[in-house]
Amino acid sequence: MNKAFYLTTAIDYANGSPHLGHAYEKILADVIARTNRLNRLETHFVTGLDEHGQKVQQGAEKEGVTPQERCDRIAKEFLNLLQELNISNDDYIRTTEERHKKVVSHLLTDLFDRGEIYKAEYSGFYSLRAEQFLQEKDKVNGKWPEIYGEVTEITESNYFFKLSKYQDWLVKYLNDNEDFIVPRFRKNQVLEFLKEPLNDLCISRPKDRLNWGIQLPFDDGYVTYVWFDALVNYISAVGYGNESFEKYWPADLHVIGKDILAPPHSIYWPIMLKAANLPMPKQILAHGWWMSSGEKMSKSTGEVIDPLSLIEQRGVDPFRYFVMREMTVGQDADFSLDRFESRYKTDLGNDLGNLVSRLFHMIATYENGVVPVAELNEEFEQKLKSHFEEMKPKALDLFNNYQFNLGLDQIFVFIRGINKYADERRPWKLAKSDNEEDKQKLKTCLGLMVESLRLAIQLLAPVMPNVHGTVNGLMGLPPCENWEKDLILDFRLVGKPLGEKPILFPR
Ligand code: ME8
Ligand code: MG
Repeated sequence: MNKAFYLTTAIDYANGSPHLGHAYEKILADVIARTNRLNRLETHFVTGLDEHGQKVQQGAEKEGVTPQERCDRIAKEFLNLLQELNISNDDYIRTTEERHKKVVSHLLTDLFDRGEIYKAEYSGFYSLRAEQFLQEKDKVNGKWPEIYGEVTEITESNYFFKLSKYQDWLVKYLNDNEDFIVPRFRKNQVLEFLKEPLNDLCISRPKDRLNWGIQLPFDDGYVTYVWFDALVNYISAVGYGNESFEKYWPADLHVIGKDILAPPHSIYWPIMLKAANLPMPKQILAHGWWMSSGEKMSKSTGEVIDPLSLIEQRGVDPFRYFVMREMTVGQDADFSLDRFESRYKTDLGNDLGNLVSRLFHMIATYENGVVPVAELNEEFEQKLKSHFEEMKPKALDLFNNYQFNLGLDQIFVFIRGINKYADERRPWKLAKSDNEEDKQKLKTCLGLMVESLRLAIQLLAPVMPNVHGTVNGLMGLPPCENWEKDLILDFRLVGKPLGEKPILFPR
């Protein structure tokens, strides 16, 4: 059985509607999945929904529906978003599915039987209003803030997972595996966190406080803490316990946001796997945040961009292009509608859209719609060809290193290079000449422009799959499936008819 490249995203909380942050993460992972496939790497891409926990239960109570009803409604919203964004995931895992609950139970039983989970009493300050334990640091001026209501000291029995036992192992693992967390600077934040001694992790919640969760298999008075449940999706989605599991696990890449790197993904998850004797995922990619007016865009701050409204206005590919072009993976980016409009008009409208429409128009008018032979190889042609030959490995390398903004920049510099070549050759002038040499120059110019555009469009496939499909269709080509074959400058379209001039990015 060949191992597939197993790629995951965070599973979104079912406690609010999706926003730009959720959309971005799914697009980022989708671009990685599509890039892999174009590189002929079998890829299994999974995303999903995180449905248990206090916030979901409270939200449902407020709405007067059952938690499952609320989750089902929110699942529809997230699934609809995936469809609108043209995400090519192979599976969608929900933590209320039987296949997931079974694996969580199985894992808990295994860890409990082997002494990795124990029961103990915990005393602390508890806020009934916030339904959570508080710490001294939650006090303001020595007092519990009003939002917590009445705070009392309570003692409660709970189950704990032995995190502390694995602290030294984890520090060594992180130091020995430089590329486990990317961008690399994030590793230091995790190591910083690990300078303090780890506490064992409380993995249970008594049912009288929270019942919307997966029941502990060894004590029916408790449900599982939501992170211990949610992280397990990565193995339950690929059938942990079945034969097929080996095809996928270990995951090759977990794509997540920086807020859930430490502790959940870089501490709890590796230790859970280690304790369960499972191999570590190969890599965790932590992306940054979309900000609005200096704050993280989130359900709680209110200032959120609804990706669906942008898609409705400008189409899905411009939206995908924008988020991939604007964000340096790993860093934060400010969202601005002006930037969005300006990318749409400049890169997409002026550079790419105009190239396509004027080229198709010229081929239709001067060459009866058939791609001519490019015979000349003068300085102008040489320059454009070597631009492509130099740009291609750079763009591929940048894509393979998740530097999509820089990769896209390379491709668009090349697209502008095609426009510049046309401005130098002036096919619209050559078309007016009776001179044989000029006619030859015209054919060469149009032939080389078509070939260059074809190559640029193949490179844009992971980011703008629809634009790619449309332009390929007009060139009589199926969607690209293999970059190695299709990124070769070989004038394969000579003699082929082109479709009608399209308007890709209307004003
Ligand atoms: O954290 N910019 O769910 P979630 C970029 N259920 N990314 C953002 C963002 C923003 N403004 N806001 C959120 C959870 N995200 C858990 C995950 S995984 C086993 C469980 C990202 O709905 C965030 O970083 O709060 C996370 O990766 C994803 O959206 C889901 O966030
Ligand atoms: Mg969150």
